[in-house]
Amino acid sequence: MIRPHQPPTATIGVFDSGVGGLTVLRALRRALPFAPLHYVADTAFAPYGERPSEFIQQRSLAIAEHLWNSGAKLLVVACNTATAHAVTTLRQRWPDRPIVGIEPGIKPAVAASRNKRIGVLATPATLASARYQALLSEHAPDVQVFSQPCPGLAGLIETGQLASPALIELVERCCAPLRQSLVDTVLMGCTHYPLIQALLQEKLGSGVLLLNVEDAVARQALRFWAASDDTKSAFLRLEATGELSGLQALAPAALASAPLTLDKVSI
Ligand code: DGL
Repeated sequence: MIRPHQPPTATIGVFDSGVGGLTVLRALRRALPFAPLHYVADTAFAPYGERPSEFIQQRSLAIAEHLWNSGAKLLVVACNTATAHAVTTLRQRWPDRPIVGIEPGIKPAVAASRNKRIGVLATPATLASARYQALLSEHAPDVQVFSQPCPGLAGLIETGQLASPALIELVERCCAPLRQSLVDTVLMGCTHYPLIQALLQEKLGSGVLLLNVEDAVARQALRFWAASDDTKSAFLRLEATGELSGLQALAPAALASAPLTLDKVSI
């Protein structure tokens, strides 16, 4: 499954703190079946969700630079936390290059909710950001939003052990307050969380609509990507700055189709 391959020159550069971006890669592969993808998982510095803003900005700038220098023509920030804290900085640094970010889908959640009570599961850093507060003011002025930070959850998912007792217990602790708040719609506001979607659904209850926006992000990327940039074969170059084991455990299942390479990189 994991075999060497020479990278093409033009790619879509994608990054996250770790395995979470696999959920975005999966959506990108659905929307752009032939686009060459270059992914960086910043596992040496994951998780981002409990890091200061300046740290997330520095890592995002360094990784973006690496991706541009390696041939990326479009950058997809496959991390809600990095988008919340660094997408403005990235766009200021590279004003002429296309950059797509991912943010909690407050607007679709508000549209989907019948009782106008929605829950948001995300990292502490995402929920504390000014961008998140702005999203709430813009799209949810008349809706009750229950923002539930999940410290530690992305880190446990990062281990690749998605059914460990510690993970199940933490998911229960994060979901219980949302059940008590009687929300009918819950947003997965971190790209790691769709990797445990079935467990989240079980803990929230089958009546709760669970939403994520990875497909919408991929559709946005599609608008920037010229089909003429595609090579003939779908290709996926994965790199990690630290631990590879989470990607090794989860990437083949998350990305069933394309040939992929996996290497360690220093950024
Ligand atoms: N997957 C990321 C997000 O969407 C980051 C999780 C983390 O590193 O804490 O927020």
